[in-house]
Amino acid sequence: MFPYPAVDPIPLPAPIWLIKLLHIVTLSLHFVAVEMLLGGLLLAVLLSLFRGSPSSLVAARALARRMTVVMTYVINLGVPPLLFAQVLYGRALYTSSVLMGLYWISIIGILTLTYWLLYQFTGRLEAGKSAWLTGLSAWVLAGFIARLLSSNMTLMLRPEVWQQMYSASAMGAYLPTGDPTLTPRWLLMLAGGFLIGGLWMVYLSGRSTFTAEEQRFVAGVGGKVAALFGVIYLAAGVWAASVQPDAVKAGLSSHWLYRFSGFAGYGWLALVVVAILLAAVAGFGKVVSPWLSWGAVLVAALTEIAFTVYRDGVRDLTLLSKGYDVWDRAVATNWGVVGIFLVLFVAGLGVIGWLVSVVAGAKKTMEGAA
Ligand code: HEM
Repeated sequence: MFPYPAVDPIPLPAPIWLIKLLHIVTLSLHFVAVEMLLGGLLLAVLLSLFRGSPSSLVAARALARRMTVVMTYVINLGVPPLLFAQVLYGRALYTSSVLMGLYWISIIGILTLTYWLLYQFTGRLEAGKSAWLTGLSAWVLAGFIARLLSSNMTLMLRPEVWQQMYSASAMGAYLPTGDPTLTPRWLLMLAGGFLIGGLWMVYLSGRSTFTAEEQRFVAGVGGKVAALFGVIYLAAGVWAASVQPDAVKAGLSSHWLYRFSGFAGYGWLALVVVAILLAAVAGFGKVVSPWLSWGAVLVAALTEIAFTVYRDGVRDLTLLSKGYDVWDRAVATNWGVVGIFLVLFVAGLGVIGWLVSVVAGAKKTMEGAA
């Protein structure tokens, strides 16, 4: 029996390749922000524990102050890929979301609580109080949200368990079990957090508001963390890929795009190795330079793009092996509307970039005054 609900008879209003491209661009940005949150937050918590070290506290405060802003980007950059994913994969994604509905809807509450805890964490640190428990609680909740997202994104690929889950609970009260890809995939995201969080510290080390000693400290800690977790991230990536079904593995190694972005064509693999080397120079040499700072930003962004493309391949090939071809949809492109959308999209990205630069500038002024 074909397990997916009937396709919507209304054709898609834009070419599938365009929707996929927009999905990958926006999801890569969401992942950069998610990794900054997951890695940066725990680093800030750990640094805040070393209350005897002034540099450590300065670094913890610098990261913590940025957390609420990062969270804004996590949320706002999560909405567009959710919309694009629903357009392309709605029949699978809506089904899995309903099957774990109670957990899925609970994300809104957990997210709100996490956000509040982030403000508390920053406030306590600024006031010179102990803040590790508040920060750690926020991190645990964010990690749980990540787990729920991984659960749904893998459940949507398993139509064979839907009927049984629905029979067990029509209330969406159960989380899916028995998927060997779920935990490696989630751990891959968590490990990536420390790689990106460390690279973020390498970038921050160039800030002129730090003293020379603080700069070397921030570059040293960030670089070492990124170099170490880059290796763990690589191992988690190999693990997550190795537990995919054979049909998916074969498809990933034969399609040019996934070869190029993933392991076989060394896309993601090479980028992570470059990130580790760059981080090692900053971390072990305690080197502070604009080249390293901007190199860290570039390699972090490219790594997330390569990862997102490869991950997209895992989904498309898994669904294809179960009869769902994402390219098999009626399309009636309304180019006028697509044109207006693209203009607004590019303008929106420009505004986001401008907002980031204004916030960064304001933080510099505030930190300078502090
Ligand atoms: C603390 C907050 C959040 C964290 C830690 C987080 C983390 C993650 C993680 C780890 C994944 C990858 C799951 C996987 O494939 O294994 C993911 C995917 C995703 N997230 Fe978030 N997320 C957060 C908030 C949000 C919000 C608020 C939205 C939307 C409003 C969102 C939208 C998405 C979407 C749409 C995907 C997957 C899209 C796709 O596969 O096509 N996220 N997120």
